Amino acid sequence: MKEKVLKKFEELFGGLDGVNVYFSPGRVNMIGEHTDYNGGHVFPCALTIGTYMAVKKREDRKLRFYSMNFEQLGVMESSLDGITPEDAAEWTNYPKGVMWAFAGRGFTMDCGLDMVIYGNIPAGSGLSSSASLEVVTGYMLKDMYGFDVSNVDIALIGQYSENNFNGMNCGIMDQFASAMGKKDNAIFLDTSDLSYEYAPLVLDGAKILITNSNVKHKLVDSKYNERRTECETALKELQEVIGIKTLGDLTEEQFETYKSAIKDEVRLRRAKHAVYENQRTIRAVEALKNKDVELFGRLMNASHVSLRDDYEVSCEECDILAEEAWKIDGVIGSRITGGGFGGCTVSIVKEEAIDDFIEKVGTVYEKRTGKKADFYTVDIGDGPSRL
Ligand code: GLA
Repeated sequence: MKEKVLKKFEELFGGLDGVNVYFSPGRVNMIGEHTDYNGGHVFPCALTIGTYMAVKKREDRKLRFYSMNFEQLGVMESSLDGITPEDAAEWTNYPKGVMWAFAGRGFTMDCGLDMVIYGNIPAGSGLSSSASLEVVTGYMLKDMYGFDVSNVDIALIGQYSENNFNGMNCGIMDQFASAMGKKDNAIFLDTSDLSYEYAPLVLDGAKILITNSNVKHKLVDSKYNERRTECETALKELQEVIGIKTLGDLTEEQFETYKSAIKDEVRLRRAKHAVYENQRTIRAVEALKNKDVELFGRLMNASHVSLRDDYEVSCEECDILAEEAWKIDGVIGSRITGGGFGGCTVSIVKEEAIDDFIEKVGTVYEKRTGKKADFYTVDIGDGPSRL
């Protein structure tokens, strides 16, 4: 991949003197979905697929962007002066947003850049191609301009730019997973205070299998923002009767005791998911520590049901993928992963059952939806680096 972006860079922008190449991973979340903006826990891991960036400083203040994933758009040019979001060049809004957010914190770039980007995360798959682009940009800026920021700062700046430059009200999980990834480990992150611990994903002869439904539904960002508002309103209602800061502060029992404060049936289900999913995540990590992978899997399945019925962020295609997976011997757990409304499921599958899984789930999926699913067994990788 390094050679691939360098070759393109040379072709488009000339000499490779002073060119650096950076990488930052995508992520898959094992459990803890839609909890990160509710003060709850998440359990993602970084992948070995992600975003590559070849970059060189310029002598003027121009920014030139080229994505090998959107070659039809050609080289897109803007300037360090007056960075604003642009509809026509949507993908550049991610790196530009990060530059804008650094500038807002007093980290000013004294010259422009030429950049070639290539991502090998399937677009719209829910594996955080945008967060990995934000984090690779932040990491590159730190390294090239000597900005004094930690990887956690890079994650926070990425999230800030996505919220305020790109209008997507995401939580911190994706950027954190990309910036703080560690080979063979998942990250147990408490989003209420950003404390975290690494947990080795020892799966006892099983593998993580990602299935891409290859559907991305429309209005994903607006539906996501709507869920977030519903949870915020439910929290305010609960705060009338119990002193909590976030939905993540509640146990299931407390939720059941106080839930009548929530005056709308839909909001009640949204809040229920946030509370129960957080507790499931805590329990799942505990199970993993106790080497009880089977319990971990059952909690993944319960997470899917809750995302499907209470949070309503699944879709017919992902329901088929999860439900067909549950029928197969050797499947320990399977659920939709990421923001939802399409994208991927993540499954833990015994090695000897993987071929059977791909064959059976693939066949039923195609029969029932007319679409082809893609399957990838994945490795858990490290955070960002200069290659
Ligand atoms: C998206 C967001 C994350 C998180 C997940 C759902 O990936 O970017 O912050 O909320 O959805 O768990």
